[in-house]
Amino acid sequence: MSEPCSLIIFGATGNLATHKLLPALYHIEAAGRLDPGSRILGFGRRDWSDADWQEAVREVLSERIGGRVDAEALDRLLSRLRFLAGDLEQAADFARLAERLRADDDLPDNLVFYLAVAPKHYGDIVDRLAANGLNAQEAGWSRLVVEKPFGFDLESASILDQRLQRCFTEDQIYRIDHYLGKSTVQNILVFRFANLMLEPLWNRNYIDHVQISHAEARGIEERAGFYDGVGAMRDMIQSHLLQMLALVAMEPPPSLDAEALRDEKVKVLRSIRPIPREAVHAQAFRAQYGPGRSGDAKLAGYLEEPGVGHNSTTETYAALKLYIDNWRWRNVPFYLRTGKRLGETRSLIAIRFKHPPQQLFRSTAIEQLKPNWLLLNIQPNECMRIEIQVKQPGLEMRAQTERLDASSCTLPPEHIDAYEALILDVIEGDHTHFLRYDEVDWAWRVVDPILKLWATERDFIHTYPAGSWGPAEASRLFDREDQEWRNAM
Ligand code: BG6
Repeated sequence: MSEPCSLIIFGATGNLATHKLLPALYHIEAAGRLDPGSRILGFGRRDWSDADWQEAVREVLSERIGGRVDAEALDRLLSRLRFLAGDLEQAADFARLAERLRADDDLPDNLVFYLAVAPKHYGDIVDRLAANGLNAQEAGWSRLVVEKPFGFDLESASILDQRLQRCFTEDQIYRIDHYLGKSTVQNILVFRFANLMLEPLWNRNYIDHVQISHAEARGIEERAGFYDGVGAMRDMIQSHLLQMLALVAMEPPPSLDAEALRDEKVKVLRSIRPIPREAVHAQAFRAQYGPGRSGDAKLAGYLEEPGVGHNSTTETYAALKLYIDNWRWRNVPFYLRTGKRLGETRSLIAIRFKHPPQQLFRSTAIEQLKPNWLLLNIQPNECMRIEIQVKQPGLEMRAQTERLDASSCTLPPEHIDAYEALILDVIEGDHTHFLRYDEVDWAWRVVDPILKLWATERDFIHTYPAGSWGPAEASRLFDREDQEWRNAM
């Protein structure tokens, strides 16, 4: 059981709070993991009372969770909800917040401030919290949760960080990358470091290349205001995909302590070979979805989505080839790829091994042995598969590919949401699955030169039909002709 705290959500009626935070809090409540004294204080512009917010949350959660909702757990959660109508831009409203937190005995002294608002507000909110003494109090602790994107580029991220660090110390700041809360992503560590048989192969001598893909069937939905001008490289690659790369590539940490783990991830990010301007076209690729289809349904192109500028060159698809210049990975390409409105929703880490040094057997398909693959499916379901060669039944000495599946491949998609795990970590004061600023900084250093060049070259954006697997031209990133994207398991 965690300590009692007041969780203050800025942007309480917004998209993130409604779709992610409140459902996660409901599940934490249902699992009995919240202290009975904990309260959740929503801060938002609507002129709502506690009861109004409780009613709105009841509706949203009943709809989202449907018939599976545990009525008692929902009532328990609603009874913790309080609301303070306030405007992020009004200093006086922060004074009222401070006053309420101090005067209301029902609200515990331990404070978590969750910034579920547009990043442009982060700096001002933090200044105002500090101006009212909410960053450091006599009784209880105070923590700050900041969502990605952390900055818009290397420079703005650094300015933002300095601003946060003026008011909160590093150990009070929790920079969320929700991929680190996914149990399948955490499983990368268990899989690599709790099994002996992989480690000897996990290097440039045996691995041909690594692919990290995140494909989404959905488009930008109602998020044009955030997405347009940001694009896939900033939205997904700078954060989630580079974090997955760091977990796949890092050395074993001395312990699972937050600092030890983050030190190792930073070493990987620092070792990524910088992409000079003249190499951007060979190592990075971007595209935007045009109109397309999914079955019989017509899908709008990106430029037709509500809220998108009619001549926007924001990329909805980005792919990247990276090299990690260290002892283990020198010259092994890491291909990263993400896109919206692709053929399927799937996150997959696919590791292709080299061919054996001698080809003794022929295979049925193309008379050449297929390489071994190790596939870690992150979502929609957690799954691990190894593809190996075995003898084809019959008289001939031919090989064929067999799949060794971990039994979890057959389980239904995972229901524990990343946010459940991460909110609990914040309340329990565990930084392990949060970003330290140097990780953010090094990740920006990887993508910044690409974004800078792209910003000057409006004509270089490809298109692909919505509902497809992206443009064929993206294959130009591959080192050799026998490499290709793994779309499916
Ligand atoms: C978010 C991005 O960080 O991650 C979204 O802003 C993206 O654009 C989402 O859709 C993907 O997360 P998940 O958990 O649905 O794979």
